[in-house]
Amino acid sequence: MSALDVTDVAAAQGATPSSRAAAEAEAVMPQSVPPVPPATQAAHARLDGLMARGAAFLGSRFAIMGGAMSWISERNLVAALSNAGAFGVIACGAMEPDRLAEEIAATQALTSRPFGVNLITMHPRLDALVDVCLAARVGHIVFAGGIPPTTAIRKAKDGGAKVVCFAPALALAKKLVRSGADALVIEGSEAGGHIGPVSLNVLAQEILPTMAAEVPVFVAGGIGRGEALLSYLEMGAAGAQIGTRFVCATESIAHARFKQAFIRGAARDALPTVQLDARFPVIPVRALQNEGTKRFLEHQAEVIRRHRAGELDKDAAQLDIEHYWAGALRRAVIEGDVENGSLMAGQSVGMVTKEAPVAAILAELMDQAAAVLAARAA
Ligand SMILES: Cc1cc2nc3c(=O)[nH]c(=O)nc-3n(C[C@H](O)[C@H](O)[C@H](O)COP(=O)(O)O)c2cc1C
Repeated sequence: MSALDVTDVAAAQGATPSSRAAAEAEAVMPQSVPPVPPATQAAHARLDGLMARGAAFLGSRFAIMGGAMSWISERNLVAALSNAGAFGVIACGAMEPDRLAEEIAATQALTSRPFGVNLITMHPRLDALVDVCLAARVGHIVFAGGIPPTTAIRKAKDGGAKVVCFAPALALAKKLVRSGADALVIEGSEAGGHIGPVSLNVLAQEILPTMAAEVPVFVAGGIGRGEALLSYLEMGAAGAQIGTRFVCATESIAHARFKQAFIRGAARDALPTVQLDARFPVIPVRALQNEGTKRFLEHQAEVIRRHRAGELDKDAAQLDIEHYWAGALRRAVIEGDVENGSLMAGQSVGMVTKEAPVAAILAELMDQAAAVLAARAA
């Protein structure tokens, strides 16, 4: 209600000048925040306890890692996440070392809180990228997109950084910890972007009972609400890595049309890429369906036809298929070409309903988790 509205109501009710003044003053004064009930406070304290190990590892208030998203997880979103109490992670993607150094410095200018850098293991200059992180005193390096070389893990650790690796199966989780990983991310196929074949539901049951005792394990993929976060914390996860829910953060630089596609999208629209022929493997990527995904099928069919007709050898055909999506995420995220670009999104996209500040998204997740604990205690 505006001050004018209050005055009008007061006048209509025959209020005296002094009570009108009081009503006007009340309308412009900030409303006092109602006290938090003790049961809610206790629930949040219990939730903090469940996140304590993960938060201590990250050096953040909440044990929530921002899932690194190429083009989206840059200085603004990363700093916003860290400033709001989570742990932002820069997506290095295909950046060259100089570009990464610039992005780290720009992020450090926006936050004094810790954040990490996600490096793709097949980057041809992986070693140089690790050096850049170490020189900038980045505390956590997340190796993604494959099993990192032991030398890269060693180099990062010797340089003083904590190493986080993605574990796609229990045997590999054990191997990564033996190689020096300080923490693990287990990412289920519900996630956005490049995905493995196994759901988080199953990965969590396979990996948490064994590995949670050894290192902090962060769960990722399909986490859209606090209740789900809580259930994984209670299974032994140290925290969660969340991507899709932060794409529409006010602080995210994703194009308005990209955000709109997320707000409209439902879980069933976020599907993995389809491979037409076993001889021409396609890395599965979960994304919202659009003209680009439809044409990818036609493109594969055409390339396979040309291969069969002897117009393309196998390697050239495979390369042609792989090149189809080159630059496609940038086209969608930065240029807003949501028809032909790649709309990488996780199944939790259906829970993205509006643009909101990072702090509000985090508060919502925490309140949802705490509400379960409070209801249980009651
Ligand atoms: C648009 C988009 C881009 C992504 N890019 C990367 C990336 O560059 N490197 C990476 O390790 N993971 C990437 N991911 C995966 C996220 O880091 C995170 O693990 C995932 O989003 C978690 O699942 P959720 O989306 O269901 O929350 C991407 C995800 C999305 C949605």
